[in-house]
Amino acid sequence: MARIFSGIQPTGDKHIGNLLGAVRHWVAGQDLHDCLFCVVDLHSITVPVEPAALRTSTLSLATLLFAAGLDPERSTLYVQSHVSEHTELGWILNCTATMGELRRMTQFKDKSGGQESVSVGLFDYPVLQAADVLLYQAGLVPVGEDQRQHLELMRDIAIRFNGRYGETFVVPEAQIPPTGARIVDLQEPTKKMSTTGGTEQGTLLLLDPPARIRKKIMSAVTDSDGVVRADAENKPGVTGLLALLSAVDGASVPQLEERYDGMGYGDFKKDVAESLIALLEPLQARHAELAADPGEVHRLLTVGAERARALAVPTIELVRERVGFAPRG
Ligand code: TRP
Repeated sequence: MARIFSGIQPTGDKHIGNLLGAVRHWVAGQDLHDCLFCVVDLHSITVPVEPAALRTSTLSLATLLFAAGLDPERSTLYVQSHVSEHTELGWILNCTATMGELRRMTQFKDKSGGQESVSVGLFDYPVLQAADVLLYQAGLVPVGEDQRQHLELMRDIAIRFNGRYGETFVVPEAQIPPTGARIVDLQEPTKKMSTTGGTEQGTLLLLDPPARIRKKIMSAVTDSDGVVRADAENKPGVTGLLALLSAVDGASVPQLEERYDGMGYGDFKKDVAESLIALLEPLQARHAELAADPGEVHRLLTVGAERARALAVPTIELVRERVGFAPRG
């Protein structure tokens, strides 16, 4: 069984795009692969974050991921900072990665906006990300398109380390979902749905109650020609709703166009809303159960961290020997 590793940042409320674009695929892959999923709190402190907010959002994201169907019996779900081998390997890989290659990372360029006052951690973010994956000898990394460059860097670092010190790391491959179903903001449908860059009314949160989902969908921006048809350029709102329904319902966009032929936006939107509500209902019910029992979430995360550490230790021991650290004790 191939080993899979992926990470998700705890900061920012999670929205339907995170579920449809990432988490749902993770859930589906649990029986096919040996999976590790990590709430990457070390990555979240690369930008300023309130300590209390970080703590809360780390635990609530873990709760949400369990509720979404990541099963602690089949997968290892844990918090990055609970396994200190991530930082140890991160440091060692800092000495393999180069300034030049990190400077080329477009995400850093975007996030730093050319400012010198950003943290060194933000610059170094992709090296820690490489450590996350290489630590577990994972072969596959399911991520979004925006992470392609970080995955290339990770491979380069692994290959360079192996070349310099001898075979040590599996060189991982990105697994980017093929149906780039773009989940867009409902109010500004030319933008990706996002809790940081989007509008509040245009972002569907995973824990939005049914009434709020209905309201957000019914007030989604469309156009005046009244035809349910995809046309990204002229009808971005309707196109976004079609992509959303297609991702939830499984029908293709052309099939949906046929289904809604001759029908108005009102009926179409009602169906979009109800299909989302039905998708989220079991997740929200499990979430309510788990949220009422925080001790259980802590227990599951402790088990997850123990399992992750057991896998990380042999790698870190090998790395220590490879780079020439004197044996301890
Ligand atoms: N950088 C990733 C993102 O923003 C999150 C992440 C951290 C990650 N470590 C990882 C993803 C390791 C895959 C593998 O989406």
